[in-house]
Amino acid sequence: MSHGIFPFWQALLNNPKQIGAIWPAGSSLTAAMLKEVFAAAPGLVIELGGGTGMITQGLFDARTHFSGLMVFERTPSLANCLQNRFPDLTIHPTCASHVDQLDLSQQDTLTLVSSLPFRSLPPCDRTRLEMSIVKVSAGCPRFRLIQYSYFKREPFPSPAANLRWRQKQTVMRNIPPATLWVLEKT
Ligand SMILES: C[S@@+](CC[C@H](N)C(=O)[O-])C[C@H]1O[C@@H](n2cnc3c(N)ncnc32)[C@H](O)[C@@H]1O
Repeated sequence: MSHGIFPFWQALLNNPKQIGAIWPAGSSLTAAMLKEVFAAAPGLVIELGGGTGMITQGLFDARTHFSGLMVFERTPSLANCLQNRFPDLTIHPTCASHVDQLDLSQQDTLTLVSSLPFRSLPPCDRTRLEMSIVKVSAGCPRFRLIQYSYFKREPFPSPAANLRWRQKQTVMRNIPPATLWVLEKT
């Protein structure tokens, strides 16, 4: 059983819309997300919604190939578990929309790896997140947001004319099956 599963279910009971999943990412989904990260030069990698740390662990193991790695996780109990498990990693225990407050001026390649449950988030959170994604994408010549969703649905409509979703593989060995999507510049 993965680390942090009980805090995950506790968080799910407390705030189901913010968790937005019945089960953490499995190993097949983690492997597929990692493969997608390496489909192009990753540069700085920022994980949005680290949760129990399944995908975080995969990213952490591959971190020497990135120019940096950090994580945003808004649920305090999950953020604490992540920080205990990865003491050397920067875990921001705040809304991932604060990614636009980081100084990314030196970064020419940025990869956001997201488990955020856009479809179940309150509209105000979703709008804030989409606006910050547009802002950071504008500042980085090479930008990708790698996101999974359930039932093959586009995670959210592209938030800018110069950003387009590409549908990638569906991982059947996940609960529930998850489809990868990449938002990138046209
Ligand atoms: C689907 S769950 C996590 C899945 C994660 N890959 C795992 O294996 O545990 C989504 C996560 O996003 C976090 N989250 C939701 N809204 C957020 C926000 N605005 N900023 C940061 N994290 C957020 C939730 O607390 C939750 O941990």
